[in-house]
Amino acid sequence: MSAGSLSVVAESVVRIGVLGCGTVGASLLALLERQSATVNSRTGLSLVVSRIAVRDLSQKRSVVVGADVFTDDALSVVSDPSIDIIVEVMGGIEPARGLVLAALAAGKPVVTANKALLAAHGSELFAAAEAAGVDILFEASVAGGIPFIRPLRESLLAEPVVRVMGIMNGTTNYILTRMSEAGADYSEALAEAQALGYAEADPTADVEGHDAAAKIAIVASIAFGAKVTSADVQCEGISSVSADDISFAQRHGYAIKLLAIAERFSLPGSDELSARVHPCLIPNAHPLAAVRESFNAVFVQGDAVGDLMFYGRGAGGDPTASAVLGDLVDAAVNLQSGAHASLGAFVPMPFRSNDELDAAWYLSLRVDDRPGVLASIAGVFGAHGVSIDSMEQHSLSGPETAADEARIDLIIHPALERDVRATLVSLGELESVRSLGSTIRVLIDADI
Ligand code: NAP
Ligand code: HSE
Repeated sequence: MSAGSLSVVAESVVRIGVLGCGTVGASLLALLERQSATVNSRTGLSLVVSRIAVRDLSQKRSVVVGADVFTDDALSVVSDPSIDIIVEVMGGIEPARGLVLAALAAGKPVVTANKALLAAHGSELFAAAEAAGVDILFEASVAGGIPFIRPLRESLLAEPVVRVMGIMNGTTNYILTRMSEAGADYSEALAEAQALGYAEADPTADVEGHDAAAKIAIVASIAFGAKVTSADVQCEGISSVSADDISFAQRHGYAIKLLAIAERFSLPGSDELSARVHPCLIPNAHPLAAVRESFNAVFVQGDAVGDLMFYGRGAGGDPTASAVLGDLVDAAVNLQSGAHASLGAFVPMPFRSNDELDAAWYLSLRVDDRPGVLASIAGVFGAHGVSIDSMEQHSLSGPETAADEARIDLIIHPALERDVRATLVSLGELESVRSLGSTIRVLIDADI
C-alpha cells in the first residue's frame, strides 16, 4: 500500500465523542452500528464513536462498545484532541452549554438534540459556531425524527413564511390520544409515554408545554430570522384538559391538540411576531386533527409556497437517533471539505401581546340551574362585545354536584383575547356562576 493510499484511509475516519447515552444516545449508537457500512459507501467516511460520556459509570448499558470508551468526565471527551465531532444528547442547560461552547471553541462541529439549550442560548451558540467556522446542527431538537429544520433553514430560507403551526410534543399528543380514544386516565397515559421513552427527564416540561415552547422558539428564530427564546413564548399546557372537554370536542367534530404556533404579522413599520403554545380544538377535517399518538406534524404557511405539512415520529429513541445521525453525516462531510452551514444573523423583533390576538374559544361554566341565569350570562358576553356562536347546557346531578347546578359549554366567535379575559372576569363576579371551567382556543376555517 502506498503512503498516499494510507493517508486517504486515515483521513476518512471521523472520530465522534458522544455526550449522553440514554434514550437517544443508546439508539444513536445502535443505528450507527447498523448503518455504518451504508454511510461509508455513500460518503467514503468511517464514523467511529471513540468516547461516550455518562453520569453514572456503574449503570448497565445495552450498547456494545468497550468499557474503556465510557467516562463520567464529559469535558475530557470534548477536549480530547483525537475527537473530531461532538454529539450532545445529555440534555439540560449546564453543563451542556459549557461543553458545546468548549467544543466549538476547539473547532469541533457539534450535533445536538437539546431544544432546551438552543431555545435559551441559541444565539450565543450559533455565533460561537460561526466564529469557529464549524457546524452546529440540531435537526433532532424539533419534532424528533421529522426532517424539518433543514428544509426550514435551507429550502425555505427565502420564503416569506407567515405562520408555522404544529403538534411538536409527542408525550402530550400520546396522552391526549389515549384519553380520547381509550378513555385512559391522564396519569396512566403519562406513565405509558414515559415508559416508551417519549417524555423528558422531568415530564412537567412536556405536559406544561415548556418542551413545545422551546421548539417553537427555535422554529420562530429560523423561520423569521428573529431572536426568540423560550421566555418569549406564551405557554399553556394540557394538565387542565378534562375528560369532559374531550367529550365536548368529540361531540362537536373537534380533536383537542397541544399546538405550538409562530406567526408573523406584516405591518408598515416593523413586523410583529407571536410565539405561543396552548391546547386547541381543531376541526376533524384539518390534517393536524388526524395526528395521533407520539406522531408530530408541522404545518407551514408561506406567501409564495402556500401550505406545507411535515409529519412523522416526534419522540422516541430511534426516530430521534435518525435525525441525529443525518446531522452527524452532514457535519462529517462538511468537516472533510472545510465547509459549514451558516445560520445568518438573528435580529430582535417586537412581539404582539396575546391580548391583541383574535381567536374563537370554547368556554365552560358551572352555574345555578334556575330561571334567568342564561339571560344574565348572555348579557355579560354582549356587554364585552363578545359574540356567542353555539351553546350547550346540561343539568348536573350526582354526589359531587351541588343541587340545581348546570354546566354550560359555549363556543364564541373570534374575539380579542383581552375581551375574552374581561368577559371571564365579569362572569366570575355573577352570583349565579359557581365556577369557571375550561377556556380553550378553537381553530376555525379562517385560521387555516
Ligand atoms: P436521557 O434518557 O435522560 O439520557 C441522558 C443521558 O445523558 C444519560 O446517559 C445520562 O447519563 C447523560 N448525562 C446527563 N447528565 C450528564 C452529565 N452531567 N455528564 C455526563 N453524562 C450526563 O435523555 P434522552 O431522552 O436521551 O434525551 C437527550 C436529549 O435529547 C435531551 O436534550 C432531549 O430533550 C433530547 N430529545 C429527546 C427525545 C426523546 O424522545 N427522548 C427526542 C428529541 C430530543 P446516565 O445514563 O449515566 O444517567
Ligand atoms: N419529550 C419530547 C416529546 C421528546 O415528547 O416530544 C421529543 O422532543
